[in-house]
Amino acid sequence: MVSEQVSEQSPLLSNEGEGSTRADHGSDSGNGGADMDRRRRWSRLREAGIFIWALVATAAVIVIAVWAQHNQQTSRPPSRADKRNLVFMVSDGMGPASLSLTRSFRQHVDGLPDNDTLVLDKHFWGSSRTRSSNSLVTDSAAGATAFSCGKKSYNGAISVLPDYEPCGSVLEAAKRAGYMTGLVVTTDITDATPACFASHVLLRQMQDDIALQEVGHGVLGRSVDLMLGGGRCHFLPNGTDGSCRADDVDVVKLAQDKYGWTYTDSRDGFDKLKGGKKAKLPLLGLFASSDIPFELDRQNENDVYPSLSEMAKTALRALERATSDSDRGFFLMIEGSRIDHAGHINDPAAQVREVLEYDKAFKAVLDFIDDTQTETVLVATSDHETGGLATALQEPGHLPVYNWYPQALAQASSSCERLAGKLQDYVSKQPSPLSQSDLKTWINDELVVSGLGVTDATDEELSLLATDPDDATSNFAAIISLRAHVGWSTHGHTAVDVNVYSSGGPQAASIRGNVENTDVGKFLSHYLDVDVDAITEELREKTARPSVIAAAGAEHAAPQWTSNYHEYDGLQ
Ligand SMILES: *[C@@H]1O[C@H](CO)[C@@H](O)[C@H](O)[C@H]1NC(C)=O
Ligand SMILES: *[C@@H]1O[C@H](CO)[C@@H](O)[C@H](O)[C@H]1NC(C)=O
Ligand SMILES: [Zn+2]
Repeated sequence: MVSEQVSEQSPLLSNEGEGSTRADHGSDSGNGGADMDRRRRWSRLREAGIFIWALVATAAVIVIAVWAQHNQQTSRPPSRADKRNLVFMVSDGMGPASLSLTRSFRQHVDGLPDNDTLVLDKHFWGSSRTRSSNSLVTDSAAGATAFSCGKKSYNGAISVLPDYEPCGSVLEAAKRAGYMTGLVVTTDITDATPACFASHVLLRQMQDDIALQEVGHGVLGRSVDLMLGGGRCHFLPNGTDGSCRADDVDVVKLAQDKYGWTYTDSRDGFDKLKGGKKAKLPLLGLFASSDIPFELDRQNENDVYPSLSEMAKTALRALERATSDSDRGFFLMIEGSRIDHAGHINDPAAQVREVLEYDKAFKAVLDFIDDTQTETVLVATSDHETGGLATALQEPGHLPVYNWYPQALAQASSSCERLAGKLQDYVSKQPSPLSQSDLKTWINDELVVSGLGVTDATDEELSLLATDPDDATSNFAAIISLRAHVGWSTHGHTAVDVNVYSSGGPQAASIRGNVENTDVGKFLSHYLDVDVDAITEELREKTARPSVIAAAGAEHAAPQWTSNYHEYDGLQ
């Protein structure tokens, strides 16, 4: 009875019932009333049957859907078909003008046609806006937080938001989801960009803490499986040779003993990894006390330091091998860290070699993608531009010249940083102060001509170098920039949009065109299908906050914030 009443309320079912009744009526006209009653009852029964069936079917569909969704949210077992790798490359401080500069430089030195382009050019995807939460001009910390957390923060923040609370990074979320993870850089592995993927501190200067968190000595435990780069000094206890830590914590030993890392600090150790085939993860490779030398200098020291592309290839193979039996792939961040440094110094000769090496590393990732069986996407962008680079320069008192001169960069065999180091070293080793003219002669012969490749340095230029060796880096850079007719507007960063590059495909469609840097960050976690918000919650639950933290405005925090391992052990 109940179902009958309900069926009458259901227009679909009752119409259907009426329809069939009418049809019966038409075809069986002339039959007796009892027959009609029987048919009507039969029709009602059928109606009820159909309705119950529909009800049960609907309920079953709902139950299955809810169960499936719940299952997906809680314990979605990864399948081979879902397996994917993500390589995220960061060209720190590389704006669009760096590409024009390097492209034309390469055409010049390699005798290539005017239409020859970089590998990057062929994979142009769009551009990214870069401002931070508190400034139109970002620094690398806020820039990398936009990538790691997908959120804007203040300049100096290492995966911490404007409320001074930590935000989960895509690398940490990836590790929790079963991916293997890696960081490859040419600067300190504790520097802002890599730091944002594997640590949380209020200020980027807190590199002692960053080192600890990166090896696993933080509230989340270990999230990184492979780290290659520079910055060894942050891992050695104070008082030992080559340490820059404020405390006496031996982070290398802690990493090995407590968190199972294998460690190498030499080119020989790098070579023994056999391009990743012999890498035992977790693997920590710190090949320089601080920065790995600029590529321009490193080329002459290849037996001491591996290059960015070599480290990238090794990392790719090591992570691929480590995930070969897994249903999850890997997340790898590769940074061309020192494009930014060349920009800060305003050294165009160093910068073009940095960009070329970055282009080579980009190509190595593309080759890996061609080769691997696992779906892999490469996305590459910059955190910001550095230097306000212009591929033209109007000299004061001169008319504009519609050209710049790559041949001036081709003559240089040393970076300005290296030349300044040599000058300071030379001056400090003199038993008695040199005469200005002797020093100028030495500077011209040994550094300007043979290092910069500039043969027409003026007396004024040489005097600047001789009188202020400590500030020689930017004076060398001004000499070569002028010869090349390359302009710079700042020794800092700028707000210009930066390019986005990708191996492409529908997966990366969401970051096509002009996007916000946080869109790039959101893409990373969406592509890997990992939950950064869950990591944020966990971090906020587990992070004890002494009142001093809550009280301190991070922007105004004094240098004493530079970490003390014991004090901040509980915090991070
Ligand atoms: C570049 O220019 C050369 C002629 O100088 C031409 O043969 C070649 O097809 C061009 N390449 C591209 C990619 O347009
Ligand atoms: C080294 O670190 C310890 C604490 O870890 C500190 O007591 C000591 O003063 C430090 N020494 C130097 C020379 O900085
Ligand atoms: Zn910078």
